[in-house]
Amino acid sequence: MKIVSTERSQVLAARIAEKMRVPLVYTKFSRFPDGELYLRTGDLDRETLIVGSIVDSDALVQVLLAVDACEGSETTLVLPYLGYARQDKRFNPGEPISARAVAQALSRGVERVFVVNIHDPKVLGYFTVPAENISIASAIGGYVGSLNLKDPLILAPDEGAIDFAGDVAAVGGWESDHLQKTRISGEEVRMKPKHLDACNREVVIVDDIIATGGTLATAAEMLHRQGAASVHAACVHGVLTDGAYARLRAAGIASVVSSDTYENASSFVSAAGAIVDALGRC
Ligand code: R5P
Repeated sequence: MKIVSTERSQVLAARIAEKMRVPLVYTKFSRFPDGELYLRTGDLDRETLIVGSIVDSDALVQVLLAVDACEGSETTLVLPYLGYARQDKRFNPGEPISARAVAQALSRGVERVFVVNIHDPKVLGYFTVPAENISIASAIGGYVGSLNLKDPLILAPDEGAIDFAGDVAAVGGWESDHLQKTRISGEEVRMKPKHLDACNREVVIVDDIIATGGTLATAAEMLHRQGAASVHAACVHGVLTDGAYARLRAAGIASVVSSDTYENASSFVSAAGAIVDALGRC
Protein backbone atom coordinates (compact mmCIF):
# COMPACT_ATOMS: atom_id res chain seq x y z
CA MET A 1 0.00 0.00 0.00
CA LYS A 2 1.02 3.60 -0.60
CA ILE A 3 -0.52 6.84 0.66
CA VAL A 4 -1.44 9.80 -1.50
CA SER A 5 -2.50 13.09 0.05
CA THR A 6 -4.11 16.21 -1.28
CA GLU A 7 -2.48 19.58 -0.68
CA ARG A 8 -4.44 20.46 2.47
CA SER A 9 -3.96 17.09 4.21
CA GLN A 10 -0.23 16.59 3.81
CA VAL A 11 0.65 16.62 7.51
CA LEU A 12 -2.05 14.17 8.56
CA ALA A 13 -1.22 11.88 5.59
CA ALA A 14 2.45 11.87 6.62
CA ARG A 15 1.51 11.00 10.21
CA ILE A 16 -0.72 8.15 9.00
CA ALA A 17 2.08 6.88 6.71
CA GLU A 18 4.54 6.95 9.59
CA LYS A 19 2.22 5.04 11.90
CA MET A 20 1.39 2.47 9.21
CA ARG A 21 5.01 2.28 8.04
CA VAL A 22 3.96 2.63 4.41
CA PRO A 23 5.37 5.08 1.84
CA LEU A 24 3.85 8.49 1.31
CA VAL A 25 3.82 9.26 -2.41
CA TYR A 26 5.04 12.71 -3.40
CA THR A 27 2.31 14.43 -5.37
CA LYS A 28 2.98 17.60 -7.31
CA PHE A 29 0.18 20.19 -7.24
CA SER A 30 -0.05 23.11 -9.61
CA ARG A 31 -2.48 24.97 -11.87
CA PHE A 32 -2.94 25.35 -15.57
CA PRO A 33 -2.58 28.92 -16.86
CA ASP A 34 -6.39 29.33 -16.77
CA GLY A 35 -6.45 28.45 -13.06
CA GLU A 36 -7.64 24.85 -13.36
CA LEU A 37 -6.08 22.43 -10.89
CA TYR A 38 -3.45 19.91 -11.90
CA LEU A 39 -1.77 17.14 -9.94
CA ARG A 40 0.59 14.32 -10.64
CA THR A 41 1.28 11.44 -8.26
CA GLY A 42 4.34 9.20 -8.21
CA ASP A 43 4.44 5.45 -8.72
CA LEU A 44 1.53 3.67 -7.09
CA ASP A 45 1.05 0.25 -5.54
CA ARG A 46 -1.70 -2.36 -5.81
CA GLU A 47 -3.51 -0.57 -2.94
CA THR A 48 -3.74 3.17 -2.33
CA LEU A 49 -4.97 5.20 0.61
CA ILE A 50 -5.95 8.73 -0.37
CA VAL A 51 -6.14 11.27 2.47
CA GLY A 52 -7.91 14.50 1.58
CA SER A 53 -10.07 16.82 3.66
CA ILE A 54 -12.76 18.68 1.77
CA VAL A 55 -11.85 22.06 3.22
CA ASP A 56 -13.03 23.97 0.14
CA SER A 57 -14.04 23.48 -3.50
CA ASP A 58 -10.42 23.22 -4.71
CA ALA A 59 -9.80 20.46 -2.16
CA LEU A 60 -12.86 18.63 -3.46
CA VAL A 61 -11.55 18.79 -7.01
CA GLN A 62 -8.09 17.62 -5.85
CA VAL A 63 -9.65 14.53 -4.26
CA LEU A 64 -11.59 13.77 -7.45
CA LEU A 65 -8.39 14.17 -9.50
CA ALA A 66 -6.36 12.05 -7.08
CA VAL A 67 -8.91 9.23 -7.24
CA ASP A 68 -8.78 9.32 -11.02
CA ALA A 69 -4.98 9.37 -11.00
CA CYS A 70 -5.08 6.21 -8.84
CA GLU A 71 -7.18 4.30 -11.37
CA GLY A 72 -6.12 0.65 -11.42
CA SER A 73 -5.14 0.63 -7.74
CA GLU A 74 -7.61 -0.52 -5.05
CA THR A 75 -8.39 2.77 -3.39
CA THR A 76 -9.56 3.61 0.12
CA LEU A 77 -10.55 7.23 0.63
CA VAL A 78 -10.09 8.99 3.97
CA LEU A 79 -11.97 12.28 4.17
CA PRO A 80 -10.84 13.63 7.55
CA TYR A 81 -13.08 16.70 7.18
CA LEU A 82 -16.06 16.41 4.88
CA GLY A 83 -17.01 19.88 3.76
CA TYR A 84 -20.50 20.44 2.34
CA ALA A 85 -21.84 17.93 4.91
CA ARG A 86 -23.90 20.46 6.83
CA GLN A 87 -26.31 21.12 3.91
CA ASP A 88 -27.62 17.61 4.45
CA LYS A 89 -31.21 18.23 3.48
CA ARG A 90 -33.26 20.59 1.31
CA PHE A 91 -34.11 23.42 3.70
CA ASN A 92 -35.77 25.55 0.96
CA PRO A 93 -37.22 24.67 -2.45
CA GLY A 94 -34.62 24.83 -5.19
CA GLU A 95 -31.67 23.98 -2.94
CA PRO A 96 -29.39 21.01 -3.52
CA ILE A 97 -28.73 18.36 -0.91
CA SER A 98 -25.06 19.27 -1.07
CA ALA A 99 -23.92 16.45 1.22
CA ARG A 100 -25.53 13.92 -1.09
CA ALA A 101 -24.11 15.51 -4.26
CA VAL A 102 -20.59 15.52 -2.82
CA ALA A 103 -20.81 12.05 -1.27
CA GLN A 104 -22.01 10.51 -4.50
CA ALA A 105 -19.24 12.17 -6.53
CA LEU A 106 -16.62 11.02 -4.00
CA SER A 107 -17.84 7.42 -4.11
CA ARG A 108 -16.79 6.96 -7.71
CA GLY A 109 -13.64 4.91 -8.19
CA VAL A 110 -13.07 4.04 -4.52
CA GLU A 111 -13.71 0.84 -2.56
CA ARG A 112 -14.59 2.41 0.79
CA VAL A 113 -14.66 5.74 2.57
CA PHE A 114 -13.77 6.88 6.09
CA VAL A 115 -14.72 10.23 7.59
CA VAL A 116 -13.87 11.73 10.98
CA ASN A 117 -16.50 13.01 13.43
CA ILE A 118 -19.02 13.81 10.77
CA HIS A 119 -21.62 16.33 11.95
CA ASP A 120 -24.55 13.98 11.22
CA PRO A 121 -23.85 10.26 10.59
CA LYS A 122 -26.92 10.20 8.34
CA VAL A 123 -24.68 11.65 5.61
CA LEU A 124 -22.78 8.35 5.48
CA GLY A 125 -25.86 6.90 3.79
CA TYR A 126 -25.33 9.22 0.81
CA PHE A 127 -22.12 7.43 -0.21
CA THR A 128 -22.67 4.62 -2.67
CA VAL A 129 -19.76 2.58 -1.25
CA PRO A 130 -19.30 1.45 2.40
CA ALA A 131 -18.65 4.54 4.54
CA GLU A 132 -17.59 4.65 8.21
CA ASN A 133 -17.31 7.42 10.77
CA ILE A 134 -14.26 7.57 13.06
CA SER A 135 -14.37 9.47 16.35
CA ILE A 136 -11.26 11.09 17.77
CA ALA A 137 -12.81 11.71 21.20
CA SER A 138 -9.95 9.73 22.80
CA ALA A 139 -7.32 11.94 21.19
CA ILE A 140 -9.18 15.08 22.30
CA GLY A 141 -9.45 13.57 25.80
CA GLY A 142 -5.70 12.92 25.77
CA TYR A 143 -5.12 16.57 24.94
CA VAL A 144 -7.43 17.68 27.77
CA GLY A 145 -5.42 15.48 30.14
CA SER A 146 -2.21 17.17 29.00
CA LEU A 147 -3.59 20.55 30.13
CA ASN A 148 -3.30 19.35 33.75
CA LEU A 149 -6.52 21.10 34.75
CA LYS A 150 -7.99 20.56 38.20
CA ASP A 151 -11.11 18.38 37.93
CA PRO A 152 -12.16 19.78 34.50
CA LEU A 153 -15.81 19.99 33.47
CA ILE A 154 -16.23 18.83 29.87
CA LEU A 155 -19.04 20.79 28.29
CA ALA A 156 -20.92 20.29 25.04
CA PRO A 157 -22.26 23.57 23.64
CA ASP A 158 -25.47 21.88 22.48
CA GLU A 159 -27.36 18.61 22.68
CA GLY A 160 -25.82 17.39 19.42
CA ALA A 161 -22.42 17.15 21.07
CA ILE A 162 -23.53 15.40 24.30
CA ASP A 163 -22.19 11.97 23.30
CA PHE A 164 -18.92 13.44 22.08
CA ALA A 165 -18.44 15.34 25.36
CA GLY A 166 -19.22 12.15 27.29
CA ASP A 167 -16.63 10.21 25.29
CA VAL A 168 -14.00 12.91 25.86
CA ALA A 169 -14.83 13.01 29.57
CA ALA A 170 -14.56 9.22 29.86
CA VAL A 171 -10.86 9.43 29.01
CA GLY A 172 -10.08 11.07 32.34
CA GLY A 173 -13.14 10.11 34.37
CA TRP A 174 -14.25 13.76 34.32
CA GLU A 175 -17.80 15.17 34.53
CA SER A 176 -19.61 16.28 31.38
CA ASP A 177 -22.67 18.40 30.73
CA HIS A 178 -24.22 20.53 27.98
CA LEU A 179 -25.61 23.95 27.31
CA GLN A 180 -28.73 24.82 25.32
CA LYS A 181 -28.16 26.83 22.15
CA THR A 182 -30.49 28.86 19.97
CA ARG A 183 -29.16 29.88 16.55
CA ILE A 184 -30.38 33.40 15.67
CA SER A 185 -28.72 33.57 12.23
CA GLY A 186 -25.88 31.96 10.31
CA GLU A 187 -23.35 33.79 12.46
CA GLU A 188 -25.17 34.63 15.70
CA VAL A 189 -25.88 32.16 18.46
CA ARG A 190 -27.58 32.73 21.81
CA MET A 191 -27.20 30.40 24.78
CA LYS A 192 -30.20 30.00 27.04
CA PRO A 193 -29.16 30.31 30.67
CA LYS A 194 -29.12 26.80 32.09
CA HIS A 195 -28.15 25.75 35.61
CA LEU A 196 -24.56 24.55 35.54
CA ASP A 197 -22.27 24.36 38.46
CA ALA A 198 -19.45 25.96 36.53
CA CYS A 199 -18.48 28.29 39.35
CA ASN A 200 -14.76 27.89 40.15
CA ARG A 201 -14.55 25.02 37.65
CA GLU A 202 -12.01 24.67 34.86
CA VAL A 203 -14.24 24.15 31.85
CA VAL A 204 -13.33 22.60 28.50
CA ILE A 205 -15.94 23.14 25.78
CA VAL A 206 -15.73 20.42 23.14
CA ASP A 207 -17.44 20.36 19.75
CA ASP A 208 -17.14 18.77 16.33
CA ILE A 209 -16.60 22.04 14.45
CA ILE A 210 -15.53 25.58 15.19
CA ALA A 211 -16.54 27.66 12.17
CA THR A 212 -17.18 31.32 12.99
CA GLY A 213 -16.55 30.68 16.67
CA GLY A 214 -19.94 32.18 17.54
CA THR A 215 -21.15 29.09 19.39
CA LEU A 216 -18.12 28.77 21.65
CA ALA A 217 -17.58 32.50 22.19
CA THR A 218 -21.14 32.87 23.44
CA ALA A 219 -20.76 29.82 25.66
CA ALA A 220 -17.49 31.10 27.09
CA GLU A 221 -18.93 34.51 27.89
CA MET A 222 -21.82 32.86 29.71
CA LEU A 223 -19.51 30.57 31.66
CA HIS A 224 -17.34 33.46 32.73
CA ARG A 225 -20.47 35.21 34.03
CA GLN A 226 -21.18 32.07 36.06
CA GLY A 227 -17.75 32.31 37.63
CA ALA A 228 -15.85 29.60 35.77
CA ALA A 229 -12.20 29.55 36.83
CA SER A 230 -11.05 29.10 33.23
CA VAL A 231 -12.53 28.15 29.88
CA HIS A 232 -10.73 26.15 27.18
CA ALA A 233 -11.93 24.97 23.77
CA ALA A 234 -11.14 21.76 21.93
CA CYS A 235 -12.75 20.74 18.67
CA VAL A 236 -12.19 18.21 15.93
CA HIS A 237 -12.42 20.41 12.84
CA GLY A 238 -10.93 23.89 13.24
CA VAL A 239 -12.50 25.60 10.25
CA LEU A 240 -11.95 28.96 12.00
CA THR A 241 -13.50 31.34 9.48
CA ASP A 242 -13.85 35.11 9.81
CA GLY A 243 -11.22 35.59 12.51
CA ALA A 244 -12.72 32.87 14.74
CA TYR A 245 -9.47 32.15 16.61
CA ALA A 246 -9.09 35.76 17.74
CA ARG A 247 -12.81 35.92 18.50
CA LEU A 248 -12.48 32.97 20.86
CA ARG A 249 -9.42 34.34 22.60
CA ALA A 250 -11.11 37.75 22.90
CA ALA A 251 -14.05 35.96 24.54
CA GLY A 252 -11.68 34.84 27.29
CA ILE A 253 -11.00 31.29 26.10
CA ALA A 254 -7.59 30.46 27.51
CA SER A 255 -6.62 27.86 24.91
CA VAL A 256 -8.08 26.75 21.59
CA VAL A 257 -7.08 23.49 19.98
CA SER A 258 -8.28 21.54 16.97
CA SER A 259 -7.10 18.48 15.08
CA ASP A 260 -5.21 17.87 11.88
CA THR A 261 -8.42 16.90 10.08
CA TYR A 262 -8.38 20.58 9.12
CA GLU A 263 -4.74 21.59 9.15
CA ASN A 264 -3.98 24.98 10.65
CA ALA A 265 -1.86 26.57 13.36
CA SER A 266 -4.14 25.28 16.16
CA SER A 267 -4.09 21.63 14.99
CA PHE A 268 -2.24 20.16 17.97
CA VAL A 269 -4.34 17.00 18.20
CA SER A 270 -3.81 14.31 15.57
CA ALA A 271 -6.50 12.08 14.10
CA ALA A 272 -3.81 9.75 12.72
CA GLY A 273 -4.00 7.16 15.51
CA ALA A 274 -7.78 6.78 15.34
CA ILE A 275 -7.67 6.57 11.53
CA VAL A 276 -4.97 3.90 11.56
CA ASP A 277 -6.93 1.91 14.18
CA ALA A 278 -10.08 2.07 12.02
CA LEU A 279 -8.17 1.02 8.89
CA GLY A 280 -6.77 -1.94 10.81
CA ARG A 281 -10.29 -3.14 11.62
CA CYS A 282 -11.41 -3.35 7.99
C1 R5P B 1 -23.45 22.82 15.20
O1 R5P B 1 -24.37 22.08 15.55
C2 R5P B 1 -22.02 22.39 15.24
O2 R5P B 1 -21.83 21.30 16.08
C3 R5P B 1 -21.11 23.51 15.68
O3 R5P B 1 -21.48 23.87 17.00
C4 R5P B 1 -21.25 24.71 14.78
O4 R5P B 1 -21.11 24.32 13.44
C5 R5P B 1 -20.19 25.73 15.13
O5 R5P B 1 -20.34 26.83 14.29
P1 R5P B 1 -19.83 28.25 14.72
O6 R5P B 1 -18.40 28.14 15.17
O7 R5P B 1 -19.99 29.10 13.49
O8 R5P B 1 -20.72 28.73 15.82
